[in-house]
Amino acid sequence: MRRVLIETAEIFEPLLKPSRYKGAYGGRGSGKSHFFAGLDVERCIVRAGTNIACVREVQKTLRDSVKKLIEAKIVSLGALNQFEIQSDRIRTPGGGSIIFQGMQDHTAESIKSLEDFDIAHVEEAQTLSARSLELLRPTIRKKDSELWFGWNPRNPSDPVDRLLRGLTPPKDSIVVRANYSDNNFFPDVLKQEREHDRLHNPDRYAHIWLGEYEPQAIGAIWTRQVFHEHRLAKPPSLERIVVAVDPAVTDTENSDYHGVAVCAIGKDQRGYVLEDGSLHGPPHQWATRAIALYDKYDADAIVIEVNQGGDMVRHTLESVRRGVRIIEVRATRGKHVRAEPISALYSLGRISHVGTMVEMEDQFCKFTSSGYAGSDSPDRAEAAIWALTELFPRLTSEPACELTEIHCAEGAWMG
Ligand SMILES: Nc1ncnc2c1ncn2[C@@H]1O[C@H](COP(=O)(O)OP(=O)(O)OP(=O)(O)O)[C@@H](O)[C@H]1O
Ligand SMILES: [Mg+2]
Repeated sequence: MRRVLIETAEIFEPLLKPSRYKGAYGGRGSGKSHFFAGLDVERCIVRAGTNIACVREVQKTLRDSVKKLIEAKIVSLGALNQFEIQSDRIRTPGGGSIIFQGMQDHTAESIKSLEDFDIAHVEEAQTLSARSLELLRPTIRKKDSELWFGWNPRNPSDPVDRLLRGLTPPKDSIVVRANYSDNNFFPDVLKQEREHDRLHNPDRYAHIWLGEYEPQAIGAIWTRQVFHEHRLAKPPSLERIVVAVDPAVTDTENSDYHGVAVCAIGKDQRGYVLEDGSLHGPPHQWATRAIALYDKYDADAIVIEVNQGGDMVRHTLESVRRGVRIIEVRATRGKHVRAEPISALYSLGRISHVGTMVEMEDQFCKFTSSGYAGSDSPDRAEAAIWALTELFPRLTSEPACELTEIHCAEGAWMG
């Protein structure tokens, strides 16, 4: 057998021996990705013909994958002569290959193409959906095949967490927790980032850098799980698209963001959040951004919250472009009251986020049944709530109107 010398932090040592399941979880910059990339290369050199599938939940392009990192490991190990780097895969010694795929692009049929793989290496496994995990586990079935997971924990209910850190992890599993302090290669720039968060972002510090779960607001009406169970890489055919703007009141340096969101309703009658375009700056900037997104998505209308001066808001938008269809909306009820029906749509699985909108999703998770629990202003989430309210009017109208509408609709149908 060939031997390869790979420099690795001691914390990962238990993962060097064979095991059906291997997991490394922890905070940012703990060396998880580097460790598994090194292990990919080592495994391919030591066992000729090894096939490795590097997967993640959503992979829009190869740039999202660990391909570049694995290539760098091959170079740093002086093993370039044993591998052949191709545009979409890496040929490994003895006729194997390392491929890079998004689980979302797989169906129950297509996943069978991975049956001949020795290793499934899952990066950012906290975003893996229950469906993807369920597809992957029985597919990786070769003798001595292994499943590797690297992740930054978010919720105990995330599928990878439930599997490997739950009450009954699979018998043949080795899981280590790694943090920045375990990474002998922790770079200076991350040292500064970490220190900044320790001082200025104490609420989120333990999650970001120590691998603790996301802080959860008590009584939150959204959970992170609901976003990533329904997340998509691309939207389906869309019926109606709107851009919504929740402008900030002032435009000083420390003022809130202007929430700008693009949402759509699909031909399948589901809702889609397509983009978070929120930004800081003087009013003409939100107006310019809103119009740019209106054009980019060929939207039907711009929905604007006009509580802080209706004419001014309309004027700001029209000073960038006249003739755009504007729908003015006014908040008459509290934020969380407007949020409730939208959160119900999410719980019913009727809304998908196209791609990941970390900051917006964070804000959603701070809405509780008694108010917004964040210290920030939920501008991004509010823009999306306005857009979805416009797209799902029946569900979100005042109860009295809704009853009348349903009643009329039924009457007409019966007649
Ligand atoms: N084996 C190694 N050799 C050289 N540098 C390393 C090694 N391991 C980690 N590093 C350095 O530490 C940094 C963080 O490592 P890595 O990206 O693997 O962490 P991570 O746990 O995957 O972080 P994240 O959660 O942010 O993805 C890297 O950018 C690199 O600079
Ligand atoms: Mg990583």
